[in-house]
Amino acid sequence: MSKYRVQGGNRLVGDIYIGGCKNACLPILSAVVLANDVCRISNIPNISDALLSLDILEALGAKIKRINKNTVDIDPRTITSHVVPHDLAQHMRASYYFLGSLLGRFGDARVSMPGGCNFGVRPIDQHLKGFQALGATVPAIIENGMIDASATQLIGNSIYLDVVSVGATINVMLAAVKARGTTIIENAAKEPHVVDVANFLNTMGADVRGAGTDTIKICGVRVLHGVEYSIIPDQIEAGTYMACAVATGGDIILHGVIPKHLESISAKLREMGAQVSEDDDLVHVIMEGPIKACNVKTMPHPGFPTDMQPQVAALLAIAEGTSIITESIWDNRFRYVDELRRMGAQATVDGKVAVFQGVKSLNGCPVKAVDLRAGAAMMIAALAANGQTEIEDIQYIERGYENFLEKLHSVGADICRIDIPTITSMRA
Ligand code: EPZ
Repeated sequence: MSKYRVQGGNRLVGDIYIGGCKNACLPILSAVVLANDVCRISNIPNISDALLSLDILEALGAKIKRINKNTVDIDPRTITSHVVPHDLAQHMRASYYFLGSLLGRFGDARVSMPGGCNFGVRPIDQHLKGFQALGATVPAIIENGMIDASATQLIGNSIYLDVVSVGATINVMLAAVKARGTTIIENAAKEPHVVDVANFLNTMGADVRGAGTDTIKICGVRVLHGVEYSIIPDQIEAGTYMACAVATGGDIILHGVIPKHLESISAKLREMGAQVSEDDDLVHVIMEGPIKACNVKTMPHPGFPTDMQPQVAALLAIAEGTSIITESIWDNRFRYVDELRRMGAQATVDGKVAVFQGVKSLNGCPVKAVDLRAGAAMMIAALAANGQTEIEDIQYIERGYENFLEKLHSVGADICRIDIPTITSMRA
């Protein structure tokens, strides 16, 4: 077990270099299964979820050669298994992407029901609906936590997703790229990472058109070849550090971003009083004066991203005035509000709506990271708070933020990591 100890109050100033996008990296690593030769993937973020995806690829039989800390060569030709080990899959929701890629390669896939962050029900019925439309046999109900999908031949079809789902959109793409015939996905998700996966597949020789719109057309091809590919930068990592600048009245330049991917985040932070300027591959955030209250409604891209909702809540907790946050994607993504209340936040939660009465400042105290983005929100609150905050369960944070401590240190944050010996080690 480990925790972060944060001394609040420092103004964060300097430069942060953004890493590869977690939510593009995970499906792209799964998609390598479909290639008939070695793929060199670069700009892989140094996060535990990416390492887990590489472990799954190795468990399936792939050969992996690390080129540097963010680049690997993956040879999928030695993959013989279509079964993702439960002890690996259970730790990460995105393990479900191996359903689509293994189905696309072998016509067979077996993955345990995904784990991941616990903020409400996280069904995969739309993934299964898509596979079924392509001719696969899928379970009517998921028994003993395993999902089996099989098909003698995947056949292109039209699929209208009942909900805008990033995972289902990507998973159906992975299964359809080598199907016989044409697949149309309607009501598709449009996130930058959906586009990045489509671009990766097309680089391999697939024929995917319309990614980034709500209609994606996939013409099945017989062979996908090995490629070199670099993952897009992580817009949520960038947005998180932008929020750190706002929280501390700071001045931070974020390098290696795609400003277009940050548009809704930049707009919201400007509404809260931040100066946000952009150049080719950087955004510059300067915060002077108080944080202004505002309302936030999370929406599928290009709306305000749900994965930035906890982070902006930490800002609105210390804004001047009352703010309303509406979470329209997830059923229960306000569990972190209790932790903010421990620090002195004035907030009420009713289902998918949270109302924050801004307070002058929060006070440091022991808190928990209840999930990945909630953990980031606690860090933002701690950086702005009076006194010391200790954040426990930081394994959630390290699933999705590479070198979190180092990047914050580099702009002047007063943070250290405390490793707590587990009981067994103490007994020893
Ligand atoms: C992806 O999750 C991201 N995870 C999430 O980010 C993100 O919050 C989410 O997209 C929305 O942007 C990864 O990419 C690994 P969805 P995903 O399918 O694909 C419902 C983070 O912090 N739904 O777009 O699982 C679902 O319940 C993580 O990086 C169904 O009903 O999300 C939700 O209400 C947290 N049936 C909505 O759709 C399905 O079959 C959107 O879910 C699938 C989804």
